[in-house]
Amino acid sequence: MIDQNRIPAHVAIIMDGNGRWAKKKGLPRLAGHNAGMLAMKEIVKASSVLGIKYLTVYAFSTENWKRSKEEVGGIFKLLVKYVDSELSELHENNVKVKVLGDYSVIPKIAVERLEKSLETTANNTGLQFNIALNYGSRAEIVRAVSRIYEDIRKGALEEETEISEELISRYLYTGDENGNIPDPDLIIRTSGEERLSNFMLWQSAYSEFAFTDVFWPDFSPAEYERLIEAYQNRDRRFGGRK
Ligand code: FPP
Repeated sequence: MIDQNRIPAHVAIIMDGNGRWAKKKGLPRLAGHNAGMLAMKEIVKASSVLGIKYLTVYAFSTENWKRSKEEVGGIFKLLVKYVDSELSELHENNVKVKVLGDYSVIPKIAVERLEKSLETTANNTGLQFNIALNYGSRAEIVRAVSRIYEDIRKGALEEETEISEELISRYLYTGDENGNIPDPDLIIRTSGEERLSNFMLWQSAYSEFAFTDVFWPDFSPAEYERLIEAYQNRDRRFGGRK
């Protein structure tokens, strides 16, 4: 049973295995992404019901551009389809949508839908749903350092400002611009792979990890709850002895 008093505040998910799921069924890769989008829909709802405050999903990495034009275009079409079918329900459920990453370079129609989601849900106070899109953690850290430098040059930050962990955190995508998202308590990766792939390198310093062999399209709310329950049975020490 999940302990309602110890729900993780922030869960981040690397949604992996759409391609292998499709291959196993003899379907095109895009059918896997479509099924992955449906799984994501259910996990957003489940997160909201469980009372999780922040859910972050890795939807498209800075490295994913290496895939075929057809696959990349198809993923952004799915994003449009997702917003068109879900935005009003997300809004009714008080979900606030945020995007982590430089989404200005993705197809215009997808940028428009994202901006519409951000605007519509800006004042919501329930689950914050962060979509990591064209996101890469090293690029995020490089951007944070250049933005600090730029603010010092412009005088927005004093020259004597101490470069601290707190300052760097504020300049990441998870910082000021998206409401200072706390570090993820739990990072889940599906499909049996056990690596971070340039996701939340700074923010994962003390995160717990959960891996499951299930391909993302088959990841159900029941499996999600099983991983959260296992997380609740761990002893987090944050470097101390406790
Ligand atoms: C990883 O599976 C998945 C992705 C790179 C794309 C994630 C996209 C979705 C879940 C659906 C679309 C939703 C939005 C919001 C864009 P993979 O293709 O790497 O799988 P494989 O390792 O088995 O090939």
